[in-house]
Amino acid sequence: MASILILVGTESGNAQMVADALKPVLASAGHAVDVSDRAASPADFLGNDVLLVVCATHGSGDIPTNILPLAETLERERPDLSGHRYGIIALGDMTYQDTFCGAGKKLDEVFAQCGATRIGERLEVDASSQPLPDEEALTWIEGWKVLV
Ligand SMILES: Cc1cc2nc3c(=O)[nH]c(=O)nc-3n(C[C@H](O)[C@H](O)[C@H](O)COP(=O)(O)O)c2cc1C
Repeated sequence: MASILILVGTESGNAQMVADALKPVLASAGHAVDVSDRAASPADFLGNDVLLVVCATHGSGDIPTNILPLAETLERERPDLSGHRYGIIALGDMTYQDTFCGAGKKLDEVFAQCGATRIGERLEVDASSQPLPDEEALTWIEGWKVLV
C-alpha cells in the first residue's frame, strides 16, 4: 500500500474540497493519506511515494499562490523524483479557452520533467459544465486508485 500525499493548489477552496473528498476513499483502499496545501519543496514529500496533485488555475493560466513556491522550486532545481509516482486533477473553466486547466497542465509537465511517473490520465474538471468538482473527482478516483 502506498503513502499518498494530496497536494492542493487553491485560491477559493474547490481544490481543497476535492482533496478532502478523496482522502477517505484512498484511505479505505488501504493507503496512508495526507493532504497538504503548504508543500514548498521535495523535502515536504520525502516520505510519500505517491503524490496526487489537485490544482486550480487562476489569473490567466496561473498557478495558485499557495503551490507556486513548489512549482518554482521543481522548475528551478529539477530534483530527481524518479522514485515518485503522481496523479493530476486539474480544476479549470472552459470559458478561459486558451488557459483551460493551465496550472494543472504545467504541474503535470514539471513533475514529469523531474522524472516522476504519472499514474493514469490527467483529470480536467470544467467548472462551466460541472459545478460540483468533487463528484467528477470521486468517479475518476475509482479508476485511479486501482493503478496505485
Ligand atoms: C479570477 C479567476 C481566474 C480564473 N482563471 C482561469 C484560467 O485561466 N483557466 C482556467 O481553466 N480556469 C480559470 N479559473 C477557474 C478556476 O480554476 C475554477 O473556478 C476552479 O474550480 C477554482 O478552484 P479553487 O476554488 O480551488 O481555487 C479562474 C477563476 C477565477 C475566479
